[in-house]
Amino acid sequence: MSGKYATETILADRHGIARAAEVLREGGLVAVPTETVYGLAARADSDEAVARIYEAKGRPSFNPLIVHVRNGAQARDYAELPHNAGIIADHYWPAPLTLVVPRKPDARLAAAVTAGLDTVALRSPNHPVMQALLAECAFPLAAPSANRSGFVSPTSAAHVAATLDGRIDLILDDGRPCKEGLESTILAIRADGRWEELRPGPVDLDRLHRYYRDSALPIGEAKGGIEAPGQLASHYAPGKPMRLNISSGEVAPDDFVIGFGAISGDSTLSARGDLSEAAARLYACLHEGARSEKPRIAVAPVPEEGIGIAINDRLRRAATPT
Ligand code: TXA
Ligand code: MG
Repeated sequence: MSGKYATETILADRHGIARAAEVLREGGLVAVPTETVYGLAARADSDEAVARIYEAKGRPSFNPLIVHVRNGAQARDYAELPHNAGIIADHYWPAPLTLVVPRKPDARLAAAVTAGLDTVALRSPNHPVMQALLAECAFPLAAPSANRSGFVSPTSAAHVAATLDGRIDLILDDGRPCKEGLESTILAIRADGRWEELRPGPVDLDRLHRYYRDSALPIGEAKGGIEAPGQLASHYAPGKPMRLNISSGEVAPDDFVIGFGAISGDSTLSARGDLSEAAARLYACLHEGARSEKPRIAVAPVPEEGIGIAINDRLRRAATPT
């Protein structure tokens, strides 16, 4: 694919990280590995740099971005952390957990990052490359997943290049797939400490809740219906019809089968039925299905428990026609 920019891919070693910091400082776009998926990073304090994220992704402007910070201390430059959010930020981060919290009115962030909301989404990623990069930059990094809006998320440098080659400046290649494989859990925490889950992900909120209750650190319990604004019904889509919860008998010869457990496929989430492995492999399987010559994708059932809840959330959105 050719585009406006000569996208360079470099190894995410010390030299690569220093180069990425330089490109970001100049307002450029860099795809960076995290423990969840690759992010498309730009400096969060620059209107021009953030505008380039929306342009490169073809992302609707009403969909705000996650701001990546080193730790709880840096988070407090941008947000008024409710008591329980502060405890999570100081003791549970770095983690695949994004906190949507009240934004500081004077926070130095590009307006488009929060899309006019009075809240901001903050995350400290648990990945050495992203942490090293944040340590080299004097600014936080706005970073959505590094894919064209609506398409399958990337868990490798090759997945990033599949839709963003020619549209961004640099890809930092970690040389291995992202460990978690699914986007962070998003937890909104209101000023009074009540919280709601906006997006299921790698962090099991019931376990987090129990942990904080047992250590006498209260966390509210408003499980709610509101959704993250960008949580469109169709998302993560491989660009061809997809059927879910397929049994072996329902498979047609022209289906690209994504297997799980006893059902083996053209590509398999986890032959031993392990849900963490399935989460880590989900987007790679969807990318393979997208690239395959077969016109349709059929997916074996995945148990609705633990991280399986987040896997099924992504599969349902991927199967929803645009
Ligand atoms: O794991 C992740 O979270 C990855 C890596 C790169 O960190 N990032 C990611 O970003 O998944 P993205 O842009 O694909 O998803 C961000 C989600 C969107 O659904 C957006 O609507 C929501 O976060 N969001 C951002 N700011 C928000 C806010 N102030 N209130 C509610 N939702 C917000
Ligand atoms: Mg995304």
